[in-house]
Amino acid sequence: MDNALRLQYLEAMGIDVWVPIAAPASDQRLLPLADSVAPAIAASAPSEYEPTPADPDNWESLQAEVAVCRKCVLCETRTQTVFGTGNKQADWLVIGEAPGQSEDLQGQPFVGKAGQLLTEMLRALGLAREDVFIANILKCRPPDNRDPKADEIEACHAYLQRQLALVQPKIILAVGRIAAQSLLKTEAPLAKLRNKVHTLDETPVVVVYHPAYLLRSLQEKRKAWMDLQLAMKTYTEG
Ligand code: URA
Repeated sequence: MDNALRLQYLEAMGIDVWVPIAAPASDQRLLPLADSVAPAIAASAPSEYEPTPADPDNWESLQAEVAVCRKCVLCETRTQTVFGTGNKQADWLVIGEAPGQSEDLQGQPFVGKAGQLLTEMLRALGLAREDVFIANILKCRPPDNRDPKADEIEACHAYLQRQLALVQPKIILAVGRIAAQSLLKTEAPLAKLRNKVHTLDETPVVVVYHPAYLLRSLQEKRKAWMDLQLAMKTYTEG
């Protein structure tokens, strides 16, 4: 990515390259809550595959299973599954919502416009994409980038759980409302979920605005940078 574009992205996020901008914690706004995803996870069936000490999970078999998955209707319309990418022993696990068009075509998460902004968000924290592991709640693209449905989230949930168990991250960055609600099994709106540290099986979870949202709502840029700073503080102090 050329420098001008990078600076544009950083500016869009409100990140001054030299002096990080702070915003008052009180500057919050409620976001509309669309379809609830929490009940899907609450009702989630256990994975068909249960690792045991004698038969531990591994990346190869998990990736192979995902590649041919037909657990939900999204398999009918996907070009390919998007398993996830990055450092499989990363301290940081970044979890987004679902592949979009570019991701569906390339088989990699966060490679479209929002992905470029995510890359810049990570870079602002001093992290390269290769330093973290990036995955999504859903491994297949919903048609026309519609919100994931509860049964799709449920069908895919075990794959993410297995990725989480394999990476064993020190911190999870939940990117956007759907990822946050699914992971934290809640229907709370994003505004109530961000700006605090949650836990998932003792791993801290910090919720950040989705970069696609930030590209549309630049007034949230300062809060996005605050979320990232909270994540880094949590990581370094953890
Ligand atoms: N948005 C997401 O949440 N994930 C992707 O992989 C791409 C866009």
